Amino acid sequence: MTATTNTRRWDPVVKLTHWTIVAAILANAVITEEGSAAHVWVGYALAAILALRLLWGLIGPAEARFTAFPPSPVRALRHIGEIRRGEQAEHASHNPLGALMVYAIWSCLGVIIATGIAMAGFPPQGESHEEDRPAAYASAEYGEESEEGEEAREGGEGHEEDGMEELHEVAVNLLYLLIVLHIAGVVFETRRSGRQVVLAMLPRRR
Ligand code: HEM
Ligand code: HEM
Repeated sequence: MTATTNTRRWDPVVKLTHWTIVAAILANAVITEEGSAAHVWVGYALAAILALRLLWGLIGPAEARFTAFPPSPVRALRHIGEIRRGEQAEHASHNPLGALMVYAIWSCLGVIIATGIAMAGFPPQGESHEEDRPAAYASAEYGEESEEGEEAREGGEGHEEDGMEELHEVAVNLLYLLIVLHIAGVVFETRRSGRQVVLAMLPRRR
């Protein structure tokens, strides 16, 4: 939303959730093995952090609330008009284009988490065993199937998990695209406005 403030501040919860979400995505994209226990636990952590951020969208400070950055294509178009005319409106929260991006990223993460949990199951309650590999959760879902069942199900009539896996992968690739656009947007906005947009997301800065 347009505001007259010339300093943007993000509260510690927004900053912390941003960078831990980044870390979790990086971890699952480049470090953990797809579908491994580590991958799934990082996934649950990601789900918890995202849930915290969404809760914060309801009860957090003004700039962090959903009401401060409604998903509005109309506002986004207006914002593009402002950029074209070289106008510099200040936004107390995400600018309207940024807001669309934020909801797109969150939705994508929602699909990744939902499909990931559909494949892996919810965390085992009470006990936590070293051997609780998610591959085991996944194969438990196939009933009799063992891990070798993987090949067997390739020819099968469209197992739910195959669809989930595909959806997980498609959403992950879409997320990568959104991240590239997000970072490009941050760079663009920094150059355009001359404000240190990134510094506002770092600890102890405003
Ligand atoms: C944004 C973070 C994540 C990234 C980048 C990511 C990435 C991937 C990729 C690339 C695969 C391989 C897909 C394929 O085999 O076609 C995969 C598989 C898998 N992911 Fe994720 N994932 C993420 C989050 C999650 C979450 C939140 C969960 C669950 C809590 C999860 C659970 C799984 C499981 C169980 C598989 C194994 C699928 C299989 O081969 O049977 N992932 N992930
Ligand atoms: C995995 C990669 C990334 C993801 C998924 C991601 C996601 C997000 C999300 C969801 C928000 C909204 C924050 C909120 O309201 O809670 C955001 C904001 C922001 N991100 Fe990222 N981000 C990523 C990487 C980065 C990187 C590498 C930078 C720094 C170059 C960055 C800089 C920012 C900034 C400056 C904002 C605030 C934008 C504004 O002022 O409106 N992000 N990001």
